[in-house]
Amino acid sequence: MGWNSWNHFAEKVTDADVRAAADALVASGMRDAGYVYVNIDDSWEGDRDAGGNIQSNKKFPDMKALADYVHSKGLKIGIYSSPGPKTCAGYEGSYNHEEQDAKSYAGWGFDYLKYDQCSFGDTIRQEAGDDLVKASAMQRAAYEKMHQALQHTHHPVVYSFCQYGLYAVWRWGAESGANLWRTTGDIKDNWSQMSLIGFQQAGLEKFAGPGHWNDPDMLEVGNGHMSTIEYQTHMSLWAILAAPLLAGNDLSAMTEDTRSILLNKDVIAIDQDRLGRAGYRVWAEGPLEIWERQLENGHKAIALFNRGESPMSFPVDAATLGIKSGAEFTDVWQKKTTVLKNGSEPLVLNHGVTLLRSR
Ligand code: GLA
Repeated sequence: MGWNSWNHFAEKVTDADVRAAADALVASGMRDAGYVYVNIDDSWEGDRDAGGNIQSNKKFPDMKALADYVHSKGLKIGIYSSPGPKTCAGYEGSYNHEEQDAKSYAGWGFDYLKYDQCSFGDTIRQEAGDDLVKASAMQRAAYEKMHQALQHTHHPVVYSFCQYGLYAVWRWGAESGANLWRTTGDIKDNWSQMSLIGFQQAGLEKFAGPGHWNDPDMLEVGNGHMSTIEYQTHMSLWAILAAPLLAGNDLSAMTEDTRSILLNKDVIAIDQDRLGRAGYRVWAEGPLEIWERQLENGHKAIALFNRGESPMSFPVDAATLGIKSGAEFTDVWQKKTTVLKNGSEPLVLNHGVTLLRSR
């Protein structure tokens, strides 16, 4: 859990924004709720010096001082690069400088690396052409090369693969050193892209577990182009999926609604449940989907999602849900007790969710 600069600040992010995000994580209570990584995404990179060492650009005058500042707040700090010569926004990537870059990150004190395919896709196309087996091997080798380089620094680093789910990364990401791997293209701050990405995760649950997670991309909660209900659905789905929770909004300007979504203790507890088992879809009928997640101590989370355009009721069948008819649940968003029994028909608003946790 943490925060990443991209979804809100994109290429405009500065040292001051990152410090402000760290301050806001502490002041808002988010750090204490578990959001501990402060991740700088693309656009921090400058040129290489004569010795080939990566420098930060003018927006980031001193990476070590910034890392020290973030650490002084009881937080961890993340950085971003690419296996290609250029990052997605056209900055310097790590191609042929992997060992050197890993050493720079360790020297500055970074705890997390997001490694984004970007221009390495062109390198692959040039060398592998239509040979997709070769393409897949090249990509895997590039991610493993950086893994080795990170290992050689003896500095513990969370390693995040960002290659948009190509070549079924969920099958080999963990073996290649990933602690998390993106499973899709980029999220956007709108209902259609968020829900497309999120619900597409069905079937990938068996690949996630402690230390190696599916990553359906960072959160858009609070960025302004979805309704409160839609952001609750976003957060609920990510929790059911055991997805990384990397807030992507401007933490220094949060509305009460945004705060209450990002800081809802019950939804965070579902996401971070120690059993570490990702949830799965148990039932679907057109736009209606029911997902469940097994939690520690025999507990269970159930989410009733309405992806449709009008309020709709769900037919409760205890056998389908694997519960006893009449079982009691905590409604995570409504903060009340809900009883699920055969024949009851809970209504869920369009684009909404009822997220329940067994008691
Ligand atoms: C890609 C990634 C995004 C972000 C941008 C930065 O699009 O998928 O998450 O890191 O690059 O340029």
